[in-house]
Amino acid sequence: MTEIRVLKVGGSVLTDKTRLESARIEEIGRIAAEIAGCGPGLILVHGAGSFGHFHAERYRLAERFDPEGVLETHRSVVRLNDLVVEGLRRAGSSPVPVHPLSSVLLKDGRIEAMEVGPILEMVKRGLIPVLHGDVSMDLIRGAAIVSGDQLVSHLARAVKPGIVALGTAVDGVISDGKVLPMVRRADISRIASELGPSAGVDVTGGMGGKMRELLDLAEGGVSSVIFNASRPGLIERALRGERVGTLVEGRR
Ligand code: IPE
Repeated sequence: MTEIRVLKVGGSVLTDKTRLESARIEEIGRIAAEIAGCGPGLILVHGAGSFGHFHAERYRLAERFDPEGVLETHRSVVRLNDLVVEGLRRAGSSPVPVHPLSSVLLKDGRIEAMEVGPILEMVKRGLIPVLHGDVSMDLIRGAAIVSGDQLVSHLARAVKPGIVALGTAVDGVISDGKVLPMVRRADISRIASELGPSAGVDVTGGMGGKMRELLDLAEGGVSSVIFNASRPGLIERALRGERVGTLVEGRR
């Protein structure tokens, strides 16, 4: 079977994070075209941006179980998922939506179980499973937000992909105004104050949350790259395994 690649495209690339449910339709089209040119063997995960963070915050899902909040947050991210799936279809790919609300179980905000079998079968058949940051049932909290980054690191541990690439709206991990070519756990204390939250409403921790997920993953043996998916051409290059942006490494 072709080597699997996992790509996340962040919500700040696909949406204007400062305005409720505003998708960047042209960007979605461009990204879909880049993905279509990259061949089979891809699992795509996308963020929520202004389609989910607003609802999660409005219903205070981080603090309490709220049935209406679960429904509205999920419906919102599904609307974005549908736009991404449609963009991919128009670009000539064969996408299928995969919703974490129905396939992921959390325990205190961390993935306890996830249905990966169907995703692998989709990839085998040449489909592109399209997952997204979502709200999911949680054994402790009732429900909680599962970020696209956590989905990526869980999937990467489960399927050991050849490439794990996280497309954001910045050029990588930036310290002192420069993009770091590589980050390891030892670097974190030095750059922690610069890993601020992303612009707009964000309930899953911006670059800091992303780094925590990716360092854990790297220490489990899977390196990843954080790059700027808003720059045309970089998705294709990242999926070819080129060094774009910042490599998150596990070796000490
Ligand atoms: C957040 O997903 C999911 C919800 C708020 C429902 P992400 O954390 O992956 O989204 P982005 O990439 O930061 O927008």
